[in-house]
Amino acid sequence: MKKLLLTVTALFLGSALYAQNIEEKVESLLKEMTLEEKIGQMTQFTSSGDVTGPTLRGNVEKEVKAGNVGSLFNAFTASYTRKLQKMAVEETRLGIPLLFGYDVIHGHRTLFPIPLGEASSFDLEAMEEAARIAAVEASAEGIHWTFAPMVDVSRDPRWGRVMEGAGEDTYYNNLVAKARVKGFQGDDLSKENTILACAKHFLAYGAPIAGRDYNTVDMSLQTLHEVYLPPFKATVDAGVETFMTSFNEINGVPSTANPYLFKDILRDQWGFDGMVVTDYTAINELVPHGTAKDLAHAGVQALKAGIDMDMEGAVFLETLKESVEKGDVTEEEINVAVRRILTLKHKLGLFEDPYRYSDEEREARVVLSKEHKQAARKIARKSIVLLKNDNQVLPLDLEKQTKIAAIGPLVKSKKDVLGAWKAKGSPKDAKSLFEGLKGATKGKAELLYAKGCDMKSDDKSGFAEAIEVANQSDVVVLAIGEPRTISGEAKSRSDITIPGVQTELLEALKETGKPIVVVLMNGRPLALEKEDELADAILETWHLGTMAGPAIADVIFGKYNPGGKLPMTFPRNVGQVPIYYNAKNTGRPFDPAQPSGYKSNYLDVPNSPLYPFGYGLSYTTFEYGEITLSSDKMTDEAITASIEVTNTGNYDGEEVVQMYIQDVIGKSTRPLKELKGFEKVFIKKGETKKITFTIEKEALTYFRWDMSEGVEAGDFNVYIGTNSDDVKSATFNLTKDYEASKNYNPIGSK
Ligand code: NOJ
Repeated sequence: MKKLLLTVTALFLGSALYAQNIEEKVESLLKEMTLEEKIGQMTQFTSSGDVTGPTLRGNVEKEVKAGNVGSLFNAFTASYTRKLQKMAVEETRLGIPLLFGYDVIHGHRTLFPIPLGEASSFDLEAMEEAARIAAVEASAEGIHWTFAPMVDVSRDPRWGRVMEGAGEDTYYNNLVAKARVKGFQGDDLSKENTILACAKHFLAYGAPIAGRDYNTVDMSLQTLHEVYLPPFKATVDAGVETFMTSFNEINGVPSTANPYLFKDILRDQWGFDGMVVTDYTAINELVPHGTAKDLAHAGVQALKAGIDMDMEGAVFLETLKESVEKGDVTEEEINVAVRRILTLKHKLGLFEDPYRYSDEEREARVVLSKEHKQAARKIARKSIVLLKNDNQVLPLDLEKQTKIAAIGPLVKSKKDVLGAWKAKGSPKDAKSLFEGLKGATKGKAELLYAKGCDMKSDDKSGFAEAIEVANQSDVVVLAIGEPRTISGEAKSRSDITIPGVQTELLEALKETGKPIVVVLMNGRPLALEKEDELADAILETWHLGTMAGPAIADVIFGKYNPGGKLPMTFPRNVGQVPIYYNAKNTGRPFDPAQPSGYKSNYLDVPNSPLYPFGYGLSYTTFEYGEITLSSDKMTDEAITASIEVTNTGNYDGEEVVQMYIQDVIGKSTRPLKELKGFEKVFIKKGETKKITFTIEKEALTYFRWDMSEGVEAGDFNVYIGTNSDDVKSATFNLTKDYEASKNYNPIGSK
């Protein structure tokens, strides 16, 4: 015990000394720096390695040598980053090393499913592992910093960036955010295979009006605090080192100029001491937003809001010096930002060895390694969601189905499976669905192919061949959906059905009478009413990454029993959007069992979605028992809710058991259900497992009208089930009010 205490004390003192050491080094460097050199550190430019936005500056090498840059992004490979680093270290006065950033979103060269797809796995360890591997590959190519994870809650599938997050639920986003930060940053930033994570986009970027990217956000402070802020807090709790601003305004103030967000909340209330970077040219955009009269004014607003680094816009570089001279900002305000940037460079060990990340030998060894591809296949199949499986068409049985038609514009695509934000993932390293099917059927079944149509055009000339191929086969596997280029940044859609004539192809194939397995590939929830009507089975495979083909084949032939669940609601049509499970009841709730007039419903479509949040089938079936509560009263102590789940089908399988809570009566209205726990369990066929959730009063609090946080005594419904719509219920009573210790000042102090 004594020895343990001594070790802990030594470790604590060691890290305190280490921090003090860094602080001293940063201060002494700061003293040597000119104002221009400091502003250079606050500037980031893109290199020509990739294009992730409009490029404003050419010749970054010249900028590096001039000391105008503290960080570059979109530069990779060990040799190129080494070359650029050498310029910074050897050709600038103080030789301060560069920080290399990049959008490593779902893998670097070995690609994992798009984040929304990966979130369908409800497997936090798998998501952490994917982020870890991404960091291992990226860091070997000289990258120190990823602009991920995106932790924007998103409830509107028209918004193209839903693909980049964990979907519509706050509680789930919190957990995924932590897992991804841990994966990227590892347990020790000074190791050469860990990279800085970046929580983005602060704040509410996922709620643009009408789902149009970059559009205005207008929302109550309660929703902001309850729904959109917590995942960011979760990243701070997980030790995230950087934050990125968002392009949008919230309630009239652009995020990049909002001290309430970056000073009051992020730093003062949450204690974040890392670095904040703008999203691309967000400072320049304060001018068209209409809060700044020119770039100099915009630079002052951003610095005063608490922004440390200017990505690509060069506003700090071109205006801050004059703003200091004019007295609009102080050099001490600049020092604060530079301190944070230099501290990060120290934490990464760049002052000791600026080249430690640019390691050709490691790059050759780890990038696209066999282990990484195996992990990608494993995670890809966990991310697949079985939406429909009539007459148990799936899994296919190679004894009986010996002629398989692979049809559709996505069957042979190696590009689209990579998804948006594919970093350096390349189609040449990816496996298409066709390759996956070929591998699985080799020597066992005949595989026929027809493309049928393109993804976007309305040309139906390929239909005849597709029908012929289907007619010759026992079953059709039809791969349709979205190309990778219509989700991601600046890729909003007002129509979220499958583009082109792909659904008509399905209609035409249906006429053949052959069983049809639709394999969807897409970057957002789609409106799939027709497909749901026509297909015998539907697999939602998102854009699954490098190992998409083999992973889908594993599921199609039953080598893997799918267990994924939807992290976002699928509407029936786009008019229902935004649609999400944790909605309010309203004063005139509609009951489909007793329809009557003057209720909150549509005339032309049910209120319910096509597939609810948390939905996903399995090849087996699970039966839920009734909920048992440890007590039906909660005072101060937590209570537990347990349920038995039995695998009643013919396959072993995984089930995501979900627990939701409803606060029945409150000072403010509360959602009908809120996810408060889940557990992914593997249950053998015939076996029963008991799942127990703990409910603490802290999990019940919410924000009232005056932004006080707490919860009132009263009844709470507990729901446990297989998705947000299909649940068992029980009720407990909270016997006394509870006030959370922290209340928020809605206006802020700055
Ligand atoms: C703009 C995007 O919004 C952001 O997420 C990304 O990190 C930057 N561009 C850099 O590519």
